[in-house]
Amino acid sequence: MTRALAAVLFALVGCTPRPGLDGAVPSLDTLGKGLPKGFLWGTATAAHQIEGGNDNDWTDWEAGSFPDGTPHIADGKPSGQACDSWNRFDEDLAAMQAMGVTTYRFSVEWSRLEPTEGAWDAAAMARYRDWTVRLRAAGIEPMVTLHHFTLPKWVAARKGFETTDTQAAFEAFVRRVGAELQDTVDFWCPFNEINVYAAQGYLSGVWPPGTKDDTALQVTVMSNMLKAHAKAAAGLREVDTVDANGDGAATVITHAHHVRVFQPASHSVLDTAIAGLTDDVANEAIPRAFQTGRIRFSVPGTIEIDEAVDGLAGSIDVLSLNYYTRDIIRADLGSAALSQSYFKGGRPRNDLGWDLYPDGLYLMLKRFSSYGWPLYVSENGTADAADDFRSDYLAQHVAAIERAVKEGADVRGYYHWSLMDNFEWAEGYTASFGLYAVDFGNTFARNKRPSVDTFTAIGANIPR
Ligand code: FCB
Repeated sequence: MTRALAAVLFALVGCTPRPGLDGAVPSLDTLGKGLPKGFLWGTATAAHQIEGGNDNDWTDWEAGSFPDGTPHIADGKPSGQACDSWNRFDEDLAAMQAMGVTTYRFSVEWSRLEPTEGAWDAAAMARYRDWTVRLRAAGIEPMVTLHHFTLPKWVAARKGFETTDTQAAFEAFVRRVGAELQDTVDFWCPFNEINVYAAQGYLSGVWPPGTKDDTALQVTVMSNMLKAHAKAAAGLREVDTVDANGDGAATVITHAHHVRVFQPASHSVLDTAIAGLTDDVANEAIPRAFQTGRIRFSVPGTIEIDEAVDGLAGSIDVLSLNYYTRDIIRADLGSAALSQSYFKGGRPRNDLGWDLYPDGLYLMLKRFSSYGWPLYVSENGTADAADDFRSDYLAQHVAAIERAVKEGADVRGYYHWSLMDNFEWAEGYTASFGLYAVDFGNTFARNKRPSVDTFTAIGANIPR
């Protein structure tokens, strides 16, 4: 059945045409050949989502509920043992090797390494170190994230990044990890998605600390994290002086920046203005701060931050984009976010209702090219438990990268989110982003989904 016919049939029975993306799916015979030589091809994960057994600020949160009784986590289940990756690195590595990856992005868990202030778990550090040694031995370049949404309880008790004090504690932690891994790691990502972290924790209130509608705190947290990033970057450059992969750079520092297309719901002046404002705070303010060394957040009538920060300019060497979807923005001046986002009817969506919009990745790569940094796609993937459309999603997003590259964008790597199904924050275990499914709570087997073959085929086409 052709896609067009399928769409008509679905329309007749009144359903959204999913699965199946808009547009043609590129041929796997050639897809990947248009990427530059040496383009890194890999998968991404985060400690709390895969390791299991962590004790951090999410631990109590996962057991709690909102005032109306709804559990904080969609299925009411805590992260628990997650993928048990803390004990199953062998299996994770084997799964990656089976797909021919050349890079792996993962995070180290602050609460594991420094469970109380100043204490250091040498055995945990040794385990992470062992992972990096084995990745490198397998020809897989590690990218290490130092903060991926979780905080040790002692940091959370001090109000995390709401206060300026946490910057020094984070810097000390980062320096220590940097020194320990300096001979095995060059590629560092101090923070993952500070915009998402601050929005979920302080605007929508669906992640710890569960503060709702506090726009001033939301941008204060982002500002404090940018300052912490500057300190962490300087610290890493000081302690990591070993060029582990011999490419001439001992440290390559990035930020995994969540980007999203914000499209006004109508041509009205208000929808257009609010979509533009949202775009500026979410997409532009952070890269602009890395470029200018000045933090500027403007939420009219609520908070204006305009501050020069030592060491912030030039504190990333490359910019990494996490891209998933687009939001259609309708102004709502009565809400703290000043807008509601909604999905256009009739669009293909994933299991979480996210719009599947591969062109958005092309648009973002073109746009962020103008800053001049080399670019990476540090996360991209989709929730698709049945694996109905993941292959097409992947192929179309890679085609979007190839198109941007052809037009001059300097894109150097791609990380699929995720290697395997894992604990998806507020969605718990209800969202399946994995190339591999996991037999949770049982054998923990990593079971290959058909889209693994697509991922492998594209990887094999990349010029080496
Ligand atoms: C990103 C997060 C990642 C995962 C994906 C689906 O925003 O960085 O941990 O939850 O979304």
